[in-house]
Amino acid sequence: MPTTPARAFPEDFLWGTATAAYQVEGAAAEDGRGPSIWDTFSHTPGRVDHGDTGDVACDHYHRLEEDLGILARLGVGAYRFSISWPRVLPGGGDRLNRRGLDFYSRLVDGLLERGVAPVATLYHWDLPQELEDAGGWPHRDTALRFAEYAHRMGEALGDRVHTWITLNEPWCSAYLGYASGVHAPGRTDPAGALAAVHHLNLGHGLAVQALRATAAPPARVAVTLNLHHVRGVSERDAEAVRRVDALANRAFLGPMLDGAYPRDLIEATASVTDWAFVHDSDEATACQALDLLGVNYYSPVLVRARDGETADGPASPWIACGDVEFVRQPGPYTEMGWSIDETGLTELLLRLHGDRPSLPLMITENGAAFADVLDGDGRVRDERRVDYLRRHLTAVADAIDAGADVRGYFVWSLMDNFEWAHGYAKRFGIVYVDRETLDRTWKDSAHWYRDVVATGTVPDPS
Ligand code: FCB
Repeated sequence: MPTTPARAFPEDFLWGTATAAYQVEGAAAEDGRGPSIWDTFSHTPGRVDHGDTGDVACDHYHRLEEDLGILARLGVGAYRFSISWPRVLPGGGDRLNRRGLDFYSRLVDGLLERGVAPVATLYHWDLPQELEDAGGWPHRDTALRFAEYAHRMGEALGDRVHTWITLNEPWCSAYLGYASGVHAPGRTDPAGALAAVHHLNLGHGLAVQALRATAAPPARVAVTLNLHHVRGVSERDAEAVRRVDALANRAFLGPMLDGAYPRDLIEATASVTDWAFVHDSDEATACQALDLLGVNYYSPVLVRARDGETADGPASPWIACGDVEFVRQPGPYTEMGWSIDETGLTELLLRLHGDRPSLPLMITENGAAFADVLDGDGRVRDERRVDYLRRHLTAVADAIDAGADVRGYFVWSLMDNFEWAHGYAKRFGIVYVDRETLDRTWKDSAHWYRDVVATGTVPDPS
């Protein structure tokens, strides 16, 4: 068996774990929290596997001290969490819910006391339901509300948060929420989805401005994108690759980093929308200087050109891609059916670095779901997750060695949680959560990761 040498990371590399509010907190109707689109969606029969909801989730809201203890024992330098917008501003209006805010204040203070840097995501998909009722992300006003929310959080927590992330994976919010409808709010309206893309970009830019105006320097501001590493089956598929790259990546990178939507995106989607929702200075507003680009990576994408248009299938997130076929990739696969291919991560990081050498990168999510079992002796032997993490961290080290400026890595996830439309069936945690008792048990991967963090080195697997 070929051996992989141990890989050492830079001294100041930031090691972390990540979660998101709706996936872990529970306490959905407590202390003045308002409903989000995920409460409505998960309570709608047929939307989430097994009818699971985030009502209780991991009960992190009530088990904060215990979970802070786990983070401290893991020894991570940072923890990425998200703030539930309807918990702090119920209804999405301007009335601050002190009890909701107090939870995040205690979380941030608890992290700082333990030497863990708080990395706060403002929007990890839980839009206040009232804002969806008023039109949701396809509606311009949502971006303005988002900016107000960012402003309030910057004022309240900006003296203590280490890094702010405006949006998590706006690709999912726009295309899964409004085109394919497999995520909340479950709409299937391609034109609305493209309007959502734009208002997310606009909201991001306005939120960066609000955070810069309120948070104490040196607050870092970033956005997290699930950038797709797209490959073609053959060279003849270059146009298919370009189309998917435009929708998936450049629809966000363009306005956020270059201040303009790519021409080919506008042209490819011309039959769906005329993009009239883009007002004169919007692209400039979306384009704010960032301290970091957050990258979430799970698996690459493989496409090829299809001969002729397809017949109408189920609603797709891939707007105007009827002539593109998404090809199933060779295994092995995770429990999500996602191919395990860490080479895509190295290639993606090098592309991003090559395109914008001065913008530091951070892996804000990477991890895998497997069918973990809690053995009778109290251990979870998740060697496949250890292998996945080792491969992907080695891929990050390869990118760093080749010149990419990667500042940190966050495992998705700290603990098993509510995996959106899949409910609790998919376990991504390095800590196992018993669905009956909600007891937490360290998986083997958590022990392994603690050692990686302690030594700053990914060990040789032998
Ligand atoms: C990402 C999400 C995160 C989690 C992982 C598996 O798309 O940001 O909340 O569900 O996938």
